[in-house]
Amino acid sequence: MQFKIDATQNKARACTIKTAHSTIETPVFMPVGTQATVKAMDANDLLSMGAKIILGNTYHLYLRPGSKIIKKLGGLHGFSKFPNSFLTDSGGFQAFSLSDNSKPDDNGIMFKSHIDGSKHYFTPQSVLDTQYDLGSDIMMILDDLVALPNTSERIKESIERTTKWAKEAITYHKSQQEKGIGVDQNIFAIIQGGTDKEFRKLSAEQLCSLTDYDGYAIGGLSVGEPNQDMYDTVEWTTQFMPEDKPRYLMGVGLPEDLIENIHRGVDMFDCVMPTRNARNGTLFTSFGRMNIRKAEFKEDPRPIDEECDCYACQNFTRAYLNHLYRAGEMTYFRLASIHNIHYYLNLMKQARAAILENRWDEFRAEFYEKRAK
Ligand code: GUN
Ligand code: ZN
Repeated sequence: MQFKIDATQNKARACTIKTAHSTIETPVFMPVGTQATVKAMDANDLLSMGAKIILGNTYHLYLRPGSKIIKKLGGLHGFSKFPNSFLTDSGGFQAFSLSDNSKPDDNGIMFKSHIDGSKHYFTPQSVLDTQYDLGSDIMMILDDLVALPNTSERIKESIERTTKWAKEAITYHKSQQEKGIGVDQNIFAIIQGGTDKEFRKLSAEQLCSLTDYDGYAIGGLSVGEPNQDMYDTVEWTTQFMPEDKPRYLMGVGLPEDLIENIHRGVDMFDCVMPTRNARNGTLFTSFGRMNIRKAEFKEDPRPIDEECDCYACQNFTRAYLNHLYRAGEMTYFRLASIHNIHYYLNLMKQARAAILENRWDEFRAEFYEKRAK
């Protein structure tokens, strides 16, 4: 992976990441494609929106259809026909959040499938084996998550375990690469530590001293803590992360969360927010959120957002989308998802331009002003 910083303004960064499958300009939002598809869209929709990287989930794809099937069909790229980059999460978070009574121990995580209740065990090595089959461009390590708030003992245990697993993962990855496995695949470690400064510092220093990692993520946030705690934790943590590698904030967030965390030095984001919200009628626009289900849009001939140049806004009216939503039509899900993903991708494009042109602070202020009107 090649990584280059194109410009910085205070802590905000505009960088370029080059993987074997695409060139990614940051700040970047990665649409979530848990099941090797971004819900309601296919590879062509994503390509025409300019998505350079999407996310997949090891947990789901391991359980169904199984990584061997995906490998046989050309990995995630061949299987889904999305030719640009994939980042895959390790399964640690999904085992923690989706599975009944998942149980971490010092060597891995035991969990029950949310599909059929069958028992499985993930280890730092096994989740990499699955990700080699998937052929993702960026693989995440297995990490030990804790629900917040939690006891210091449990948070400390999660940090120590995550560091132990990170050491095992990077050793294993290097040995596999020497055998010709995963040579084009990159690997990121995940910093834990809740919202406690000392714990975050400890986790960041331990993981960032493992310098063979291609990038570092901040995990364990957006799990119910107040927003300001998330911002403060990110601001505190980025100072312990190397400048010359990508920084990824996992599972965040709303448009304002992206702006605030770019401001604190984050390069990469992913979240189900745009796609999940699209499906329940919430659309993101330059003037804030709107609910397309409302009766006031029944005869509205305008596009969702007059400033938006997405496929949905260029071709269809609020009245039509309101009707499709109420009728439960599939077309609604596709058009609404296209609009919301376009909004997120476009927000990142504008943020990047602002950093490159040295007007980040103005851009950030304008973002809030427009929404307040
Ligand atoms: N997705 C959102 N947060 C996390 C995290 O802390 N770890 C992992 N593996 N995935 C996440
Ligand atoms: Zn639009």
